[in-house]
Amino acid sequence: MSEIVFVDGAYVERKDARVSIFDRGFLFADGIYEVCAVLDGKLVDNSAHLARLDRSLAAIELACPMSHAEIVAMQRELVARNALREGLIYMQVTRGVADRDFAFPEGATPTFVAFAQHKRIIGAPAAETGVAAISVPDLRWARRDIKSIALLAQVLAKQQARKARAAEAFMVEDGFVTEGASSTAFIVTKADEIVTRPLSNALLPGCTRQAILALARERGMKLVERAFTIEEACEAAECFFTSATAFVMPVVSLDGRTIGQGRPGPATRRLRELYIAAAREEAE
Ligand code: PDD
Repeated sequence: MSEIVFVDGAYVERKDARVSIFDRGFLFADGIYEVCAVLDGKLVDNSAHLARLDRSLAAIELACPMSHAEIVAMQRELVARNALREGLIYMQVTRGVADRDFAFPEGATPTFVAFAQHKRIIGAPAAETGVAAISVPDLRWARRDIKSIALLAQVLAKQQARKARAAEAFMVEDGFVTEGASSTAFIVTKADEIVTRPLSNALLPGCTRQAILALARERGMKLVERAFTIEEACEAAECFFTSATAFVMPVVSLDGRTIGQGRPGPATRRLRELYIAAAREEAE
């Protein structure tokens, strides 16, 4: 079956999708993106993703060319046209096409593209065994709270992880983990505290992070929002990362050191199950 993507209001086959080389996303990475999971053909936690899309757009002073209702209709159309049951919808908005000049162009129309991707999320084998992670220096800019399409530091971090046969890279700044290259980092201490870094410009406000903190809070699990080090993560009882496309992913080794028992721990498994149940129930 051919794959149908969305480009500026039109549904076209992947091979026919075109964006100008003068698009500011291509020339300056002048744009933002959003990724939301699809489960049973429904959008997971989409209102949180749309709220963050608005937040990212406002941060770069870009007006969204589509309303929320239009975006949701388009996301559903992509799900339907691509017969997507499980996977994700990727959306990207850039400042549009203009002669190359750093400052904002006058009168450019934003470019809005989106596509669907099939991915096994619930039954991902990695979630059963846990994955390896490595640490890398955080080489990014100072506004990591914006979901910017400028992802070169994360591309390099992920490639380093791949070379080390690891699934994720935890990025470190001033001795503390900021987040994963495409996820939020968590540890569970030996005192059963779930620890993740507080929100700031240093990291992306993860939608899955927000949902996990709410679920853990409702269940009376102990939560602490503070930064942690790689050493602490290696010595922790459990470690995991969260994202729209991985949900809750156990990390069982870090820089080659085994974490806990070297298999997914009880708190991580519980949070994954809670999140899957909530996602299934609330997806729309
Ligand atoms: N990435 N931190 C970074 C740097 C990320 O790129 C992501 C997600 C997250 C987790 O955010 P959320 O829970 O809202 O997905 C944290 C997406 C999945 C991506 O780039 O593909």
